[in-house]
Amino acid sequence: MLLRYLKSYICNSVAELRLDMKVAAIVAIDKNWAIGRQGGLLCHLPADLRHFKSVTMGYPIIMGRKTFESFPRGPLPGRLNIVLTHNDDYRPSGVTVCHNMNEALAIAQAEGRDRCYIIGGGSIYALFAFIIDEIYLTQIHSQFDDADTFFPPIDQPQWEIVEQEDFPADERNPFPYSFIHLKRKIHSTEM
Ligand SMILES: NC(=O)c1ccc[n+]([C@@H]2O[C@H](COP(=O)([O-])OP(=O)(O)OC[C@H]3O[C@@H](n4cnc5c(N)ncnc54)[C@H](OP(=O)(O)O)[C@@H]3O)[C@@H](O)[C@H]2O)c1
Repeated sequence: MLLRYLKSYICNSVAELRLDMKVAAIVAIDKNWAIGRQGGLLCHLPADLRHFKSVTMGYPIIMGRKTFESFPRGPLPGRLNIVLTHNDDYRPSGVTVCHNMNEALAIAQAEGRDRCYIIGGGSIYALFAFIIDEIYLTQIHSQFDDADTFFPPIDQPQWEIVEQEDFPADERNPFPYSFIHLKRKIHSTEM
């Protein structure tokens, strides 16, 4: 029960929040776990954008202020956009602004869905790393040496691949890529 305990401890440390939804991260990484450069994505991969949309549609999505501001057309439709910032005066339209992890989780949970998605960027993946149950990983089989933002290191033995699909590069997607669905294994103390 260590994971559940940690989850409950983290949540209860600020607010009396009982999590009864899954918390999943969705991210595209390169060979070095890089996720971004100069405020934007590493590359344009239309297949990944479609995958992101189909996985997250209808669910609350939680993101950092910088990731939100990188969207060319504002909030992502069909999903509750929850944006984290320290700034009390930040009020862009079409999103729910919050100021800490617990508030974001409480708002997501109030949607009544069985899960929410942490969609980045680097600081937000790191903030939620301990309570993420699943990762929808797009592995881009390339390396971007000028990347400046990274996914936090994961403890590989704690995770298992439950699904993987591999795709070659094509005329629209310039790099080979894989969609990998990871789940955190039950901690040994839970058995
Ligand atoms: N490859 C992918 O799948 C993927 C996905 C998403 C993003 N990205 C990339 O990641 C990069 C952005 O990541 P980033 O780490 O620079 O920025 P970010 O995580 O998107 O946003 C950082 C901002 O979030 C707010 N924040 C962070 N922690 C907070 C906390 N504990 N409480 C309240 N607010 C908090 C702060 O906003 P204030 O400064 O307003 O206080 C902070 O400046 C971009 O290059 C983007 O394209 C890649």
